[in-house]
Amino acid sequence: MSFCIAIDGPAAAGKGTISRAVAKHFGFAHLDTGLLYRATGAKTFEGLTPIEAARSLTARDLDRPDLRSGDAGQAASRVAAIPEVRAALVDFQRAFARREGGAVLDGRDIGTVICPDAEVKLYVTATDEVRAARRHRELVDSGEAVTVEEVLAELRDRDERDSARATAPLKPAPDAIVIDTTEMNIEEAVARVIALIAEARRQ
Ligand code: DC
Repeated sequence: MSFCIAIDGPAAAGKGTISRAVAKHFGFAHLDTGLLYRATGAKTFEGLTPIEAARSLTARDLDRPDLRSGDAGQAASRVAAIPEVRAALVDFQRAFARREGGAVLDGRDIGTVICPDAEVKLYVTATDEVRAARRHRELVDSGEAVTVEEVLAELRDRDERDSARATAPLKPAPDAIVIDTTEMNIEEAVARVIALIAEARRQ
């Protein structure tokens, strides 16, 4: 049996942490779809065009150690605006969404384009300042020297590009449940999402 949980939202809203915790709790597989765009962007650093990079993506490209950097995030956001790049990545994501045993996918267009018939659709968000502060802490903890102002500017830049593009822009699906984590800690956000999904599974 398949069961698809779509988790969308802007950068650094907590989608990744929530998705991993939810997948673990229900024993579902998890796909961080941002990694597909990050790996595509990173391959363009080696001279491939974005479309060639997306069409030739393999599992090994997703293991590169540099995919979490701010530069890879910006490159991802740029290649993600190209319709042919998105088209090249659709089949893989749809097959993952409908695999046996359940799947959690997090990204920007999962509930709107990749899996519009998902059993549960969530849109996770928080204020720009709170998202920047959380991402800043993570980066500082991992040894990167950045200011919170730089992180805030980078997030806003990416969110604006991701929301303004013509193909599969960042926006909540009409039937998504919006979860604003501004005033929640991660444990509260995870507990809230697990309760919502458990309820949907009973129906
Ligand atoms: O989730 P993330 O920050 O790793 O995503 C990096 C970029 O990839 C994001 O700025 C936009 C793009 N992306 C997308 O367009 N669609 C998705 N489903 C996931 C990510």
